[in-house]
Amino acid sequence: MYDLNSVTKTYVRRGHTVTALDDTNLEIPDNDFVAIIGPSGSGKTTLLSVLGGMLAPTSGNVFIDGESLYDLSIEERTALRSTKIGFVFQSFNLIPWLTACENVQIPLMLSGQSAERQRSRALEMLDRVGLADRTDHHPSELSQGQQQRVALARTLANDPQVILADEPTGNLDSETREQVMTYLNEFHRDGRTIIMVTHDAGTAAFAKRTIRLVSGVAKSIVSPEAA
Ligand SMILES: Nc1ncnc2c1ncn2[C@@H]1O[C@H](COP(=O)(O)OP(=O)(O)OP(=O)(O)O)[C@@H](O)[C@H]1O
Ligand SMILES: [Mg+2]
Repeated sequence: MYDLNSVTKTYVRRGHTVTALDDTNLEIPDNDFVAIIGPSGSGKTTLLSVLGGMLAPTSGNVFIDGESLYDLSIEERTALRSTKIGFVFQSFNLIPWLTACENVQIPLMLSGQSAERQRSRALEMLDRVGLADRTDHHPSELSQGQQQRVALARTLANDPQVILADEPTGNLDSETREQVMTYLNEFHRDGRTIIMVTHDAGTAAFAKRTIRLVSGVAKSIVSPEAA
């Protein structure tokens, strides 16, 4: 679980200080499914980056399973990130010259698994997101929604406990959006924690609860209708 304690993040650019997160406190238990909403510039991506171990807060502490994320060494934080946390972005960040299967193998390769294990796990994940017949396609040969599903399979290949998603359905039509959310929901039902930034009310409706950021503060927390 996450525990954010008085987290403030300020950016300083040419003498101007922007407070992107302002003394934010937040608890996210295991197996939560949170939608983060709020106007452009309210600090949503900053919050996800802080949660993902990619951006140290200016002050305050971020605990993940009781460990203070930014008191770890860079090596320890990188290791924790690659084992516990998966990312999904609006732009899928697939590598164009690799096939779908090879793209999904990347995190498995980085965590030192054998070539055989990489391939079998990648095929299993692609099958799970309904792309068993597209494993040797390159990203340019896939639809947007299929590319996002490859990205999802890659994120989930290492079985992360937490998935951080920044506008995961931003570029997709409503049918494909529904499909991607169905997979995310399935992984949530498997016990994972999902923290997702979205502008879209239909996408947010998949979450158990919604947190609204206003000027860097987690202002209102809309309580879940069904936990
Ligand atoms: N690297 C940076 N340097 C300076 N200011 C930044 C930087 N990144 C973000 N900001 C500022 O911090 C504030 C929060 O930015 P952030 O990207 O977290 O907003 P957001 O809620 O994700 O917005 P959007 O919905 O447009 O993606 C904004 O005012 C932004 O201009
Ligand atoms: Mg953003």
